[in-house]
Amino acid sequence: MPAAEEPRAALPPEWQPGLDALRALPDGAAALLIGATDRGKTTFAALAAQALAAEFERIAVVDADIGQSEIGPPGTVGVAWADVRTPRLHDLKPAARFFVGSFTPISAALEHAVATAQATRWARAGRARRILVDTTGFVVGPAARRLKVAKATLAAPALILGIARDGELDALLTVLAAATGAQVLALPVPNAVQRKSQTFRATRRMSRLSQALENAREMALPLAGIVTVGVTLGTGLPLPPHLVRWTASALRLPVAYAEQGESALSVYLTGGAPRTGGGARSGWEANAAPVAEHFGVRTVRVLSLAAHEGLLVGLHDERGLLLSVGRFLDLDPERREITVSAPPPALPERIRLVAFGRVRAAPDGSAGSEVRPGEI
Ligand SMILES: Nc1ncnc2c1ncn2[C@@H]1O[C@H](COP(=O)(O)OP(=O)(O)OP(=O)(O)O)[C@@H](O)[C@H]1O
Ligand SMILES: [Mg+2]
Repeated sequence: MPAAEEPRAALPPEWQPGLDALRALPDGAAALLIGATDRGKTTFAALAAQALAAEFERIAVVDADIGQSEIGPPGTVGVAWADVRTPRLHDLKPAARFFVGSFTPISAALEHAVATAQATRWARAGRARRILVDTTGFVVGPAARRLKVAKATLAAPALILGIARDGELDALLTVLAAATGAQVLALPVPNAVQRKSQTFRATRRMSRLSQALENAREMALPLAGIVTVGVTLGTGLPLPPHLVRWTASALRLPVAYAEQGESALSVYLTGGAPRTGGGARSGWEANAAPVAEHFGVRTVRVLSLAAHEGLLVGLHDERGLLLSVGRFLDLDPERREITVSAPPPALPERIRLVAFGRVRAAPDGSAGSEVRPGEI
């Protein structure tokens, strides 16, 4: 929905020094917005971008909040060009998106930091005069510190704006300054800033994801034509049907599909994977050694195809450019193709790299469970 001629919302006066600092930056500079949840980061980004757009062309906003995404679907880092008529980031048209595949930074920390850096680099390459990077409210604890330092180091901001109550961000801002050499400015939280409930957040994420999946269609992608990342599936050589049958009877498991990798044979069951760790003498594990030996691999991994259902996937072209975001549906062992549900890109035949995320989503956009270690 384009916001035609929206009245210009006023920047709270206590945020004026932040806007002044942004103005004073050299062209091409990035500013990282840091703060705990519900401190007004996104509101500041939107209002400051709008104000800057009145003076400069090509003001970029990078939305690195993968949970409460405003630009592009949740689970991605989006970039948009600011518009003087638009006080809300959500009304800006995404100009580029980078796949992360999670709604929380901790479960895809590497992808999240990389996607934020890619988005910032993309804006810089597009001759952005200022780049405002809005981030998640994940700021407390050693893991948050690691992630923010990684992100800041990669994005190389000239300015770090911390929106904070009292001194709550001082320690983080100090370490970010030391890691990047950026100028640091702390801004207060205006009284008008309100808390958003967990229900509000979940509902908004769901509706944004369902919007993104609105025109989704089922697409079959032959495994031979794609490469995968974030998942074991598609990383090995598919076993021919007679060897799948042999493996199934040797392991006494209903194996539907199997791939031979460098160090492991991965077998896929249509139902849930049986529990492991019941002792080497119990269940399928008792028969795994001869199977591993037969294929010349170290181990046999038993995985569940059902566990892949609904996983967020990013469909990229042969150069790593994100074409579409969707959900994994199924694997057809006979045709050796996967099925995904996603809005089809203009040229579906360009799909080459399928990145699997860490979270499942339902067709209506509601978030499902996160991937457990070793599960896929
Ligand atoms: N100046 C303002 N006037 C009125 N409401 C405001 C103002 N600034 C922020 N708000 C409201 O306060 C809430 C929190 O602000 P915002 O979403 O910008 O914070 P945030 O730090 O980005 O939160 P998150 O942790 O979810 O990223 C929002 O509902 C927003 O609309
Ligand atoms: Mg926000």
